[in-house]
Amino acid sequence: MLMKACTPSSVLLVCLGNICRSPTAEEVFRQQAAIAGLSIKVDSAGTSDWHVGSAPDTRSQRHAKSHGYKINKLVARQVSANDFRDFDLILAMDSQNLADLQAIKDGIIESEDNLATLALFSEEDPTYCGSDVPDPYKCDNDDFEEVIERIESSAQAWIESWKAC
Ligand code: 4NP
Repeated sequence: MLMKACTPSSVLLVCLGNICRSPTAEEVFRQQAAIAGLSIKVDSAGTSDWHVGSAPDTRSQRHAKSHGYKINKLVARQVSANDFRDFDLILAMDSQNLADLQAIKDGIIESEDNLATLALFSEEDPTYCGSDVPDPYKCDNDDFEEVIERIESSAQAWIESWKAC
């Protein structure tokens, strides 16, 4: 469990491809933070380089839009060591993403104090705590809906935790 922390100035959401879960989470987080009156820089990235330069998956775009989140202009990029210097908090959509991010962080030769805190996206969420946002890429419509539901719930939980700080 993380130490309770006040609102970070920047948050990076990370999944595998940066075309389904994390771009959706980026826009959900951005909107929820704005509603809560929190000024936070929000971005997303993928651990892989498979879809760098691509727009979000059209299924994710469609499901996000139906919930009021416009993600069609986002462009996939790969996470880098510099993200650990540029962001306060990096949130992994699933435990494999978390392990891959931890390996990048472990490879950085400098003081831990200056690097982003790393956590699972569901970590603060009493409903989904400790569980993965499942990879929907090879799945059907219901799975894309579940992704949005989990993302909204877990993003709200982070924001509530900061409002309480
Ligand atoms: P994401 O989903 O990590 O939520 O963006 C995926 C997108 C693409 C692939 C896997 C997961 N892929 O295998 O190409």
